[in-house]
Amino acid sequence: MEENHITDGEETATKYKVTIVGSGNWGSVASKLIASNTLKLNSFHDEVRMWVFEEILPTGDKLTQIINKTNENVKYLHGIKLGKNVVADPDLEHAVKDANMLVFVAPHQFMEGICKRLAGKMKGDVQAISLIKGMEVKTEGPCMISTLISKQLGINCCVLMGANIADGIAQEKFSEATVGYREDREVAQRWVQLFGTPYFHVSAVQDVEGVELCGTLKNVVAIAAGFVDGMEMGNNAKV
Ligand SMILES: NC(=O)c1ccc[n+]([C@@H]2O[C@H](COP(=O)([O-])OP(=O)(O)OC[C@H]3O[C@@H](n4cnc5c(N)ncnc54)[C@H](O)[C@@H]3O)[C@@H](O)[C@H]2O)c1
Repeated sequence: MEENHITDGEETATKYKVTIVGSGNWGSVASKLIASNTLKLNSFHDEVRMWVFEEILPTGDKLTQIINKTNENVKYLHGIKLGKNVVADPDLEHAVKDANMLVFVAPHQFMEGICKRLAGKMKGDVQAISLIKGMEVKTEGPCMISTLISKQLGINCCVLMGANIADGIAQEKFSEATVGYREDREVAQRWVQLFGTPYFHVSAVQDVEGVELCGTLKNVVAIAAGFVDGMEMGNNAKV
């Protein structure tokens, strides 16, 4: 039976359970970062659940079974051990039902469908964070992904963004990222603790939209800069 509380003398505090919704390149690296920290930090359950959009590999094996057997996401992050405490779960509703910390990291185009499936299926005290770069553009205007999550699920949603390429962080090359939070600094600090490692430096600022927009628009600028380089138009065109 898993413990839900830690006792420190007279005080009893919640032990947080983390589920990652998404298991591509970045979701797998997030699971590695988080799994290394939940083992070290007493305020988190060791186990990290990761919802995996089930895929059948060319070998005929299910991706979830291979992740749970080899501890590697062989399709999206080959050659990197995620941590023995990462459990791949193909059932979205089952993966989130006991969590009180949800990490959203699926590509943005799947988020509306994911939120529809999750509405009303989570614990009341759940906190979320989005690592997703992108936005929903509708006829009534653009909608940030953290807003979509907050509105559809009725939960608080922070963001974590940075100039982060998943493979480099998987190889433990130094990188940094920022948590954007709305009001609760304590929640932001919990996310900082959960993601931060000596090679992944995380800090927090009270600005969800600012952080999310910088993370999202950085990719647009990077693509444009790549076009300029590819067309050999020179640095003046780039800046
Ligand atoms: N890869 C990076 O270096 C990186 C870094 C920072 C942020 N991000 C952001 O993280 C998010 C995820 O990117 P990624 O690179 O991990 O993606 P990815 O391309 O590596 O993975 C795609 C994922 O989508 C899943 N998928 C496929 N069809 C699906 C469906 N119908 N419903 C739900 N899921 C489905 C796949 O199984 C896979 O897990 C993006 O918003 C991206 O901008 C990525």
